[in-house]
Amino acid sequence: MSRYDDVPLQFPEGFLFGSATAAFQIEGAAAEDGRTPSIWDTFSKTPGKVWNGDNGDVADDHYHRWESDLDLMKELGLAAYRFSISWSRLLPNAGSVVNPKGADFYSRLVDGLLERGIRPIATLYHWDLPQELEDNDGWVNRETSLRFADYASTAAGLLGDRVAAWTTLNEPWCSAYLGYGSASHAPGRTEPANALAAVHHLNLAHGLGVQAIRAAATNDPELSVTLNFHVPLGDDAEAKRRIDALANRAFTSPMLLGRYDDDLLEDTRNVSDWSFVQDGDLAQINQPLDFLGVNYYSTVTVRMWDGESTRARNDGHKDVGGSAWPGSEHVDFLPQEGPYTDMGWNIAPDSLEDLLVSLSEQFPDQPLVITENGAAFADEVTVTPEGKRVHDADRVQYLKRHFAAARCAIDRGVDLRGYMVWSLFDNFEWGYGYSKRFGIVRVDYDTQERTPKDSALWLRDLVKAHAARS
Ligand code: NOJ
Repeated sequence: MSRYDDVPLQFPEGFLFGSATAAFQIEGAAAEDGRTPSIWDTFSKTPGKVWNGDNGDVADDHYHRWESDLDLMKELGLAAYRFSISWSRLLPNAGSVVNPKGADFYSRLVDGLLERGIRPIATLYHWDLPQELEDNDGWVNRETSLRFADYASTAAGLLGDRVAAWTTLNEPWCSAYLGYGSASHAPGRTEPANALAAVHHLNLAHGLGVQAIRAAATNDPELSVTLNFHVPLGDDAEAKRRIDALANRAFTSPMLLGRYDDDLLEDTRNVSDWSFVQDGDLAQINQPLDFLGVNYYSTVTVRMWDGESTRARNDGHKDVGGSAWPGSEHVDFLPQEGPYTDMGWNIAPDSLEDLLVSLSEQFPDQPLVITENGAAFADEVTVTPEGKRVHDADRVQYLKRHFAAARCAIDRGVDLRGYMVWSLFDNFEWGYGYSKRFGIVRVDYDTQERTPKDSALWLRDLVKAHAARS
């Protein structure tokens, strides 16, 4: 039992129920119609980097199945769909010449959503940096931020009459610290000072991107960024402060307050002097946002390393010798109480409620949207006379309790506008390949058959009940 089990799942009128995916995780067609490689193509094809040697060549074959996938979204009653655009499908080799087939694909996708009454929320960067830009030092190079602004401008020029909301970056924490610090994500580098340069250049890309979209779009879209907030727990205030500074405030302070916090600069002084921050950058980064996207799955419990304890884990990601915490390697991540999902992540809906309340206290005028929440479980398919079923009771319970936590946060005054379940489909779960299933729709990777799981039907019924009330 949980205190959330009795909370009625009623949300304000206009609350957006949706689901989310990302280009590299579902599209496939990696070498088709002019798309060129991204860092995740390269990384996934490097032996030992991704579970089972899995890659994104076929994924959910969404590039070819987008139309029936949209029909399915409509059947599920989704009011919004959060997807991402592949930079190297739109601008092959990270050039400036638009790939007409790439532009057509996203244009048809957006039209198809609108025809079905589904609000398109487009993310520009969900980790798939064009390989050419990485060959030019990737996010360590300031030039990448400028190229991102050009890409944002191009995308908004093509789709900016129809896309309702834009998200510049998805989880820049992962791009910077896992990509350039711990090496568990592409491009797989272990360079702590450069991970901090990547933080800044991602922040700069965000600010320039927001301005580029506002200039190019014609439909007055909503602008946002999606961050994966860390919720540090435990008795050690210093350890929690350090994690909050590196993981959360390294992004929210420049983006929403126009500064880097002194404690962040101090904590990382032994790693970098932050001389990559140039005059005027913070003003470029600090742009008004229509909503802040919140991705939440789990918590971390931390304490300062006493030099004797065994290092417990590296935030649930494979520890391959680098560090996702430049300057704070002596913070320990402790084992946490279950229950756990198939990722080994602890299930803690109360921390979602606390996080939303804390964000609205820190940024009182900033509307919030949950841009990702969901869970991987080892689902089983049951064959019945009516067809296949996936009775994913654990995922249904996870979602019910997290929706209830969101509802409680609204009761406490949080301006929460929507909730996107991760993910619509089982898909390529980065370093874990296809071994972890987050979908509310099952994907059979041999046949590409889609089977809505009980969780998808639960979401459909929640949306239906909500629509009947309003
Ligand atoms: C965050 C990422 O944005 C998404 O791509 C990933 O699949 C989920 N979390 C689950 O790990």
